[in-house]
Amino acid sequence: MTILDIIRPDNPTLRKKAHRVTSFDKKFQKLVDDMIETLDDAPGVGLAAPQVAVSQRLILVRLQDDEESRKEFGEDAGKLFVLANPEIVKASKEMVEGIEGCLSIPGFVGLVDRHEKITVDGLDRNGKKIRVKASGWLARVFQHEIDHLDGRLYIDIAKDVWEPREEDEETPAE
Ligand code: NI
Repeated sequence: MTILDIIRPDNPTLRKKAHRVTSFDKKFQKLVDDMIETLDDAPGVGLAAPQVAVSQRLILVRLQDDEESRKEFGEDAGKLFVLANPEIVKASKEMVEGIEGCLSIPGFVGLVDRHEKITVDGLDRNGKKIRVKASGWLARVFQHEIDHLDGRLYIDIAKDVWEPREEDEETPAE
């Protein structure tokens, strides 16, 4: 496996609408494995293929596996979600405000409104249909990653963006 370079907003691939995944071949499997290693190395809670300069609709999500996450998300804490061609098929009217950071924009965080609950349909790494129901922080990470597939960054929609100080609570990047 290989740790891939995470690109910054100056790379145009990060701003493009990514292509649908149509092949689940060996090359795709290697991309998934490399992205898992890259996510773990970063470390982060989410990674979208355009962030490693691959214009494909593929995202990874893995929340922190700590006590607080396990209390809130049960078995979804620490679980790795791999979704190709993810689509939000249902979203709550209720929006919640929260702090996000992005692996492509190191050193900054921002305040972003997201749907409190969403349902996401997509394909797993073998091309099999899957559906994920997410709320709270998990729903937020999915929305952030899916935005990456359309070239959208949290800084485009954030109400405020700032450089956190050392004493601030750390925001996991995605
Ligand atoms: Ni991001």
